[in-house]
Amino acid sequence: MCGIVGYVGDKQAAPILLDGLKRLEYRGYDSAGIAIHNCCCTNLIKIEGKIKVLEEKLGGAYPEGHVGIGHTRWATHGRPSDVNAHPHTDCTGDFIVVHNGIIENYQELKEWLQSEGHVFKSETDTEVVPHMIEHFYDGDLFETMKKTISKLEGSFALGVISRREPGTIVAARKSSPLIAGLGEGENFIASDIPAILQHTRKVYILEDGEMVKITKDKVEVTDFEGNPVAKSIFEVKWDAVAAEKGGYPHFMLKEIHEQPRAFKDTMAGRILPEKGEIKLDDVHLSKEYLQGIKKIFIVACGTAYHAGMVGKYVIEKLTRVPVEVDIASEFRYRDPMIDKNTLVIIISQSGETADTLAALRESKKLGARVLAITNVVGSSVSREADDIIYTWAGPEIAVASTKAYSTQLIALDFIALYIARTLGRICEKDFQEITSAMKNLPDQAKIILGHEDKIKSLAQKFSDREDVFYIGRGLDYPLSLEGALKLKEISYIHAEAYAAGELKHGTLALIEEGVPVIAPVTQEHLFEKTLSNIKEVKAREGFVVALANEGNEEIKKSVDDVIYIPKTHPILTPILAVIPMQLLAYYAAVARGCDVDKPRNLAKSVTVE
Ligand code: AGP
Repeated sequence: MCGIVGYVGDKQAAPILLDGLKRLEYRGYDSAGIAIHNCCCTNLIKIEGKIKVLEEKLGGAYPEGHVGIGHTRWATHGRPSDVNAHPHTDCTGDFIVVHNGIIENYQELKEWLQSEGHVFKSETDTEVVPHMIEHFYDGDLFETMKKTISKLEGSFALGVISRREPGTIVAARKSSPLIAGLGEGENFIASDIPAILQHTRKVYILEDGEMVKITKDKVEVTDFEGNPVAKSIFEVKWDAVAAEKGGYPHFMLKEIHEQPRAFKDTMAGRILPEKGEIKLDDVHLSKEYLQGIKKIFIVACGTAYHAGMVGKYVIEKLTRVPVEVDIASEFRYRDPMIDKNTLVIIISQSGETADTLAALRESKKLGARVLAITNVVGSSVSREADDIIYTWAGPEIAVASTKAYSTQLIALDFIALYIARTLGRICEKDFQEITSAMKNLPDQAKIILGHEDKIKSLAQKFSDREDVFYIGRGLDYPLSLEGALKLKEISYIHAEAYAAGELKHGTLALIEEGVPVIAPVTQEHLFEKTLSNIKEVKAREGFVVALANEGNEEIKKSVDDVIYIPKTHPILTPILAVIPMQLLAYYAAVARGCDVDKPRNLAKSVTVE
């Protein structure tokens, strides 16, 4: 999730682009760049680091010119560096591109272009685009762009300028947000409204499959075939802060709603059903190595640890390799029994959590191979691990982790499938069943987000309580742990999660009239067992909200209310079922007037012991 911006008009473009990029920095901030045209040449300046680093490099001497594009990056392919920063150019430097998204077939395009003699400078997927434009250019940039994007697979919001067609910006959108801003004698493109709000409140919101050509006097929108598209102007009413949150009151709610896209991006180019493969570019676990591992450890903190607990169930189920899950702050000091036949999976959204990083180093010291799941390319964890799976959830601003957790679950499912497939421990039918169910997750998540109002009213029913319990069996137990943590950390309500069968061994003593109990019952092979635990709570007049799969009518008879989720493969349910848990916590916190994005006493990345 990067930020792109473009300007064409009579004003100096550089300050407008830099200001726009600063307002898009919540989308990515590991490197940045601008390219400015003036009558004779193009100035391209890019650097690793935040926008202020780019400004320091410019030292106030902004390149002259009235046309330009800019980019602030959230790395996916290629670590944050000066050469991987955008904009990217072709061999001649004539075609300059900024991109937000993931070009899934970039590897094969790159090999083809290299065989045609093109020389690549960066590790990015994006750089194939300017070289393809160079390859196809026939004197008309817009036409060439149509040809180029017809060969691209994946998601992209692209902005292109060329000194061969000064005064023009061409842009295109597929699965990544893009707007065109309409000014007086000037026009804009941008990934999002905050970038241009101080210049215009009139925008065209481009849909997937649309392209735009802007000059200072004209904005023309067509589909990818070149057919004109009539656009209605969207008049922006938000203020700048609200715009950064995309109109949501909090980053947490915005990030909860970004999960369908985060699922899609995290799965992009990684499921190859025709080959019966899971393709993980930065994971190189050979069959020989996997046949030799005696045990897998999953080590993390907080929400990432809860993801690890789900990972244990799934990896053991599909691979039959024993898995132990550990809290990093305990693992690093308990002299864990690991050696060269141990695979350690480290999970960290930020990639900088001190205890998790120390656990990684301890594991390597003891001879283990380390596979990391992280959301930040270039983070310490990603630099020190042997193998990496990036969750492409985009920047997570709110302290309470949401989209990073659910995409960590997807990454863990990929690891389980990858190992099971390599060791021949999963049949074709199961592999196809699980991977095709995974492809439905983005749309199913949208269905759940549609139940938001119902979940909001449920949350308000218990937001004045001081104690809330979560109970679950199987995968619903670690899911309950995550639900309870979300509620605790943003609403300050004391919440505890229990394996449902454990309740009668003590905690049931705390259940009395009206005590809220959230009970996910998504694991149908354990339904009857969990139902009996729910009845134990109801017998003490607890207030029970169940979380069940669509079609489960039985549960209605035994609880006070039910939140339904679309049915998916049993091992995938936590990816969907966590969304109502996140919304329950969010609306309980809002009802209590809490500072949802910056809860007291907490930090987004805990870099101290
Ligand atoms: C979760 O909402 C919290 N922010 C916290 O528990 C977090 O998961 C934990 O600090 C681990 O962070 P990491 O994934 O960045 O390592």
